[in-house]
Amino acid sequence: MIIRILFVGDIVGAVGRKALKTCLPRLRDKYNPGFIIVNGENAAGGRGINASIVKEFYEWGVHGITMGNHTWDQKEIFDFIDKEERLVRPANFPPGTPGRGLAYIKGKEGELAIVNLQGRTFLPPIDCPFRKADEIVEQVRKRTRYVLVDFHAEATSEKLAMGWHLDGKVSAVVGTHTHVQTNDERVLPQGTAYVTDVGMTGPRDGILGMERTSVMQKFKTSLPVRFVVDEGKWHFHAVVIDLNPATGLAQSIKLIRMDEEQLIFE
Ligand SMILES: [Fe+2]
Ligand SMILES: [Fe+2]
Repeated sequence: MIIRILFVGDIVGAVGRKALKTCLPRLRDKYNPGFIIVNGENAAGGRGINASIVKEFYEWGVHGITMGNHTWDQKEIFDFIDKEERLVRPANFPPGTPGRGLAYIKGKEGELAIVNLQGRTFLPPIDCPFRKADEIVEQVRKRTRYVLVDFHAEATSEKLAMGWHLDGKVSAVVGTHTHVQTNDERVLPQGTAYVTDVGMTGPRDGILGMERTSVMQKFKTSLPVRFVVDEGKWHFHAVVIDLNPATGLAQSIKLIRMDEEQLIFE
């Protein structure tokens, strides 16, 4: 027996949701993951998530949802986040913030704890993710060996620091937020699967999921520009992580990268 997690990077807008819906059945056939976790911070028009999208994700077979700095972008999040037991927002927001940063996902082979943390480099100030990680790991390990941390951060250095900080203490540290998949997936020496960024699932020909001409205009003029989520063809980025059921540590991590015109299910 093996514990297998499919983790899908930031799903951006309608195009990203379409990509997820298209790819999930085939990925389930191929990999048969026990747990499917997705980052949903950009799922609603590129900004946040709403209740109907959460429901839709669950209907498609998603077991848990992680978020990030865009958690609060849709006002209705405040109406449902406290009730949503399988959706996590960054745990290192100040005490009293709505929602939760840790959730337990029940699967056939046991429980997977999912944790969301947000970095502090090039992102708004927030409580220390490293101290918060220690606090949560201590709590979680009393209940389950299977722990996935989505570290939502901008700086590659901060993400690497978190990977090494948690090596041997959690099953996996996967980075999100930059929307660009990094080619540095590995199992660290003490058994934690790591990748700096899983990459995004959404519009392929925009810039990080946004319509590209407006982003280019912003860079070229430095004037305020309104960004809108892009349309068109999708690309899909995810990782598959296998855990040793006895230890909860990782045996392997594999990158998945697909394109609407190039479905690779080798
Ligand atoms: Fe994102
Ligand atoms: Fe983000």
